[in-house]
Amino acid sequence: MICSILLLIILTSCVSGTFVVNVTQTSYQAEENHHITLEWTFTTNPHTSSNSLNIFCELLIDLRNPVLFHLHEGVEVPESQDEQFAGRVQWDKDVLREGRLRLHVSRLRTEDSGLYLCDVLTSYGSNSGRCRLNVTAARDRPEPETPNTTSPPNTTSPPQPESRGWIGLYCGLTAAVLLVGCFYSFKTFCRENQIPIR
Ligand SMILES: *[C@@H]1O[C@H](CO)[C@@H](O)[C@H](O)[C@H]1NC(C)=O
Ligand SMILES: *[C@@H]1O[C@H](CO)[C@@H](O)[C@H](O)[C@H]1NC(C)=O
Ligand SMILES: *[C@@H]1O[C@H](CO)[C@@H](O)[C@H](O)[C@H]1NC(C)=O
Ligand SMILES: *[C@@H]1O[C@H](CO)[C@@H](O)[C@H](O)[C@H]1NC(C)=O
Repeated sequence: MICSILLLIILTSCVSGTFVVNVTQTSYQAEENHHITLEWTFTTNPHTSSNSLNIFCELLIDLRNPVLFHLHEGVEVPESQDEQFAGRVQWDKDVLREGRLRLHVSRLRTEDSGLYLCDVLTSYGSNSGRCRLNVTAARDRPEPETPNTTSPPNTTSPPQPESRGWIGLYCGLTAAVLLVGCFYSFKTFCRENQIPIR
């Protein structure tokens, strides 16, 4: 009797000791408005149903710990989720049976940055795993504001020599007309005053 109790204690401690929650990546780097997949792996037990699975994931920040994901006895509890993540988290139901928790977080915000902790509780053990996410602000987009600076000078610079040419031509013509006019009036002046011109 004592022996079997001892054996049971040893067995349970061994079983719970072997239950692990790992992270596939300890740190993630992403940009604002992009998306990311956070992944945890945990020990599976083929003899237990997925109904015994409880998962609680939260973001650890100073004052409040917004809940990212909550699974209660194999069923998602959307009410638990913080409004910060509302409509932005999806999970892979298919891979959960293989002991993989994959959470897709879309439209990332800079305030999503921080340490994420997932607690996994099962009938055969419990543990937790954590990973860090760093969401950097989207870079200022100067690209659409400055299309291509090479084309405007190209279109504006050629008219300049062109107009200069026209001005030159106009000036030259005026000068020629004036010269011719002067010459003839000079000639007339000379003829009228009987001044011989060679
Ligand atoms: C957790 O990580 C350890 C060490 O890398 C590995 O031996 C073990 O198989 C992993 N377990 C799970 C459930 O991912
Ligand atoms: C987040 O990423 C930026 C850009 O790579 C880096 O400068 C910053 O130190 C990172 N912050 C943390 C907490 O890792
Ligand atoms: C403008 O176009 C040229 C060639 O088409 C390219 O080399 C240059 O980087 C572009 N400049 C900008 C500001 O987009
Ligand atoms: C600039 O203008 C000239 C003349 O209109 C044209 O032949 C040339 O291809 C243009 N260059 C660029 C980079 O657009």
